[in-house]
Amino acid sequence: MWGSLGLLLVSALFPVRRVAAERCPRICICDNIKHHVTCLNKNLTEVPITIPQVTQKLDLRGNNIKVIPGGAFLPIPYLTHLNLQRCNVESIEEGAFRGLGRLIYLNLASNNIAFIYQESLDGLSSLQQLILEKNRIEEIKPGAFSQLGFLNFLNLGENFLVYLPDMVFQGLQLIKWLRLSHNALHVIATEAFAGLPTLRRLSLDHNELQSLPTEALSRLSGTTRLDLGHNPVTYIGEEAIEMASLKQLFLDNMSLQDVSHKAFVKSPLLHTVDLHNNQLQVLQPLTEAAHLKKINLTGNPVVCTCYMRPFKEWTEKARVQADVPCAGPGAFRGEQLESLRSIDMKCGGPAPDEKRLPSPATREPEGDAKTKCPKVCACSPDFQHSNCENRGLQKIPKGFPGNTQLLDLHQNEFHSIPKGSFPGLKKLVSLHLQSCKIAELQPGAFQGLKKLIYLYLSNNNIAAIDAAVFGGAPQLSYLYLDHNGFTRMPTATFSLLPNLFSLHLQHNSISQLSDNDLAGAGQLRWVYLSGNRITRVSPRALSPAKMLEKLHLDENLLQEVPTGSLRGLPVLSELKLSKNPIKSIADGAFLPVARSLLHLYLDNMGLEQLSSRAFAGLGPRMKSLYLDNNNMYNVPDLRSFTGLEVINLRDIPFHCDCQLLPLRKWIDKLNLRVGATCGSPAEVHGQKVKLSAVFKSCPGWGIEKGRRAHPDKVKAKTKAERSPSKEKRSGKAQARGTKKSKA
Ligand SMILES: *[C@@H]1O[C@H](CO)[C@@H](O)[C@H](O)[C@H]1NC(C)=O
Ligand SMILES: *[C@@H]1O[C@H](CO)[C@@H](O)[C@H](O)[C@H]1NC(C)=O
Ligand SMILES: *[C@@H]1O[C@H](CO)[C@@H](O)[C@H](O)[C@H]1NC(C)=O
Repeated sequence: MWGSLGLLLVSALFPVRRVAAERCPRICICDNIKHHVTCLNKNLTEVPITIPQVTQKLDLRGNNIKVIPGGAFLPIPYLTHLNLQRCNVESIEEGAFRGLGRLIYLNLASNNIAFIYQESLDGLSSLQQLILEKNRIEEIKPGAFSQLGFLNFLNLGENFLVYLPDMVFQGLQLIKWLRLSHNALHVIATEAFAGLPTLRRLSLDHNELQSLPTEALSRLSGTTRLDLGHNPVTYIGEEAIEMASLKQLFLDNMSLQDVSHKAFVKSPLLHTVDLHNNQLQVLQPLTEAAHLKKINLTGNPVVCTCYMRPFKEWTEKARVQADVPCAGPGAFRGEQLESLRSIDMKCGGPAPDEKRLPSPATREPEGDAKTKCPKVCACSPDFQHSNCENRGLQKIPKGFPGNTQLLDLHQNEFHSIPKGSFPGLKKLVSLHLQSCKIAELQPGAFQGLKKLIYLYLSNNNIAAIDAAVFGGAPQLSYLYLDHNGFTRMPTATFSLLPNLFSLHLQHNSISQLSDNDLAGAGQLRWVYLSGNRITRVSPRALSPAKMLEKLHLDENLLQEVPTGSLRGLPVLSELKLSKNPIKSIADGAFLPVARSLLHLYLDNMGLEQLSSRAFAGLGPRMKSLYLDNNNMYNVPDLRSFTGLEVINLRDIPFHCDCQLLPLRKWIDKLNLRVGATCGSPAEVHGQKVKLSAVFKSCPGWGIEKGRRAHPDKVKAKTKAERSPSKEKRSGKAQARGTKKSKA
């Protein structure tokens, strides 16, 4: 009786299933029970048209859909989840998602989208999560998201946003978390966050904010968590954070030298402040922050002398949990502040660095700031921007508002920058002089620019820099000298730039790096030398830059890995050697940086041989390894690389015989795309290493395979035994199999 009922059910269901199955696009996998369709990494150039109408989840990751045309999803109106990550999407036409009124999740991460228009998002009236991470979005127009009344998470991380205009997020009535991390935000308009009463969390970390957007943030009356870490802010003034509901505030890894003791008085519910990895030597008690319970000052050069006594006493009285390791004086180095006795915290010697002592908030009256501006320029005192871009100027204009923070002079014809060219710009943070035909910088050219952090001199004709050129701009941290005429490193300049952090020298004609070329650059973290003509890096060229984290030497003329010059770089984490004519790599080539290296680029080099211990010392720490487009036949053992997130082995002519078995086994266990294909022998040319059958006859092939296969078999068997209609099942599987092979 059960049998016949089963048969009845099967025959009742079968026709329906068959129809659905027929509609499944050949290269996709359709789960017609759950209504999921997956077409992963298939090079599709458009959304397949034969997807079952009832599909609820569609996964199109890793295809090649450059344009999403209007109405692309009209045939599948029941979608709730749509994933279009890594599809090379460049544009989304008007009405692209029309008809998707049930969609709650849309993932467009890792594409090439540059613009988001309101019309592109038409019809997504139920959308709750929109992921636009890792695109090329530079600008968002107000109202772009105004139709997304149910959105609760918007992720715009890792784009190229520089500026947020007023009302840019209007209409996001239910938004809970807005993520803007890892952009290049400089300026946030006062009303940028207006109309977001439900926002709980705002992530603005890893941007280029040089001061806190106090007023803009004050519109966020319901926000409880604010991430601001990794922005180049040096000072937090009185009442800088004015957020009625804020509880957790992250201010880590900024460049803070001073935090006013009244910084948080307008944020009455603040509970936690994270200040780790800043430059604070002293902090006053934050007595008016009544709810503050946790403060973290690890990674700051805190000097536990009498200046810190009031702070310590306050933490005890107010029962604030304070993580404050002392950096000095000598006797207390490494001790926790709370473990010291106040009475021992003395002030005998010199006061801590004068310039870093809390200074009274410098809010001098701006006076004529609103009226002053050179005739040919446009000044916007509210944003503290002045702009004379592409005006055909031959001399640098004078008379900018005294509060200007960003001055854009790019694309003019200055030829030379004389001494004292920027008088009265004490607050200037960012100066743009790209493409100005500059050949000469005179000593004192930037004097008086006490706050200058970013200086852009790209695309000029500069070939040398006198040591005195950067006098008077001691805060300069980011220096752009790419696309100029340097034939050697501008060595002498570093001594006047004690805070230099990032140096761009790509696309010059530098032919070698000599001993002490970076002398004086003790704070330098990132050096970009791509696209020069470097043939040699001498062993002591880089060692003065002890803090170096990133070194780009790609597109040069190096014939070997400059192993010797990597000694003495204890925190180097990224090394780029792509596109150098390096034919072979010797044992231990990266040993000097093995303990810190995370990302290694060795692609496009014409590499013919990697010795078996070329990667000695590198292991679980490594996050990415690029070896693509080279000419070797094998790679060294990669088994110790257990932490990889990216590995690229494309376009390498692997010789697929038993010697490659270790690689094949390693790939089998990996859940990353590797891209390795066989180059030889001829009969397997073009096969994926991962799929090639040549390894099956190799000694050692069966060992792990066998072990793995065993329990699977057992499981399959017991399942089959339990199943009432074993024969039907296998019959169906067979039917599906034939259908597939026919298609
Ligand atoms: C994808 O398409 C491009 C161009 O249409 C082609 O060059 C490439 O080989 C294709 N890749 C795969 C995996 O089919
Ligand atoms: C944060 O800053 C510290 C020192 O200031 C540095 O060692 C660390 O690498 C930084 N962290 C990141 C993620 O950049
Ligand atoms: C303070 O921050 C550091 C660095 O993130 C962390 O290791 C430490 O645990 C934090 N301290 C407390 C008390 O949370």
